[in-house]
Amino acid sequence: MTAARRLRVAVLISGSGTNLQAIIDAAAAGDLEIDIVGVISDRPKAYGLERAANAGITAMPVDFKSFDKRADFDAALADKLAELAPDLVVLAGYMRILPATTVNGYRGRMLNIHPSLLPDFPGLDTYARALAAGKKSHGTTVHFVTPELDSGPAIIQYRVHIRDQETEPGLRQRVQAGEYIIYPQAIGLIAAGRVTLDGDSVCLDGKPLEQPIIIDEQPC
Ligand code: GRF
Repeated sequence: MTAARRLRVAVLISGSGTNLQAIIDAAAAGDLEIDIVGVISDRPKAYGLERAANAGITAMPVDFKSFDKRADFDAALADKLAELAPDLVVLAGYMRILPATTVNGYRGRMLNIHPSLLPDFPGLDTYARALAAGKKSHGTTVHFVTPELDSGPAIIQYRVHIRDQETEPGLRQRVQAGEYIIYPQAIGLIAAGRVTLDGDSVCLDGKPLEQPIIIDEQPC
């Protein structure tokens, strides 16, 4: 009997890469049946590239600032990604909008994590916006990527209850702790073939999900 092929995962980052680290750690611990085949960053100084190199993973800067035309950057990034021949592309704090051609080429095979309970608060500054709106809860969502920003079908959410006197840094810290749980979990579900995208529906074990899987922060 031949072993199932391990999922080839490419990760796109722009910054510190704490989510990348959580994925690297889960794979190293044997909790994820994946091979991280490369980490690409649009910012050559992103600390996440060092995290990749430290883990023996190919780190590939594609410096946005070295391109005069946006289209040339987009093409270079798409080429680098294609070189890695990924089964799954994971956006982990990648801060640029990918062109629809790239996104559509990986439909059902590209994930993002966005720090809100989508469809609430697509875009930036989600923590401040959730607090200003007087929300009772906030969180983070892993979703399939579609060309429209932060709008693709959601797979899993981590939800925290907003406390009295909650501050933005405190809320961010608790939500990010949840990201390090749910991102590896979502990737694991895909690696196991349990989660798929069928049209616009996320399917779990062959059945459409009515709503994303929700993991609540545990008190203490
Ligand atoms: C994460 O909090 C994620 O929600 C957002 O960007 C942040 C990236 O952080 N998309 P890191 O680079 O993984 O530390």
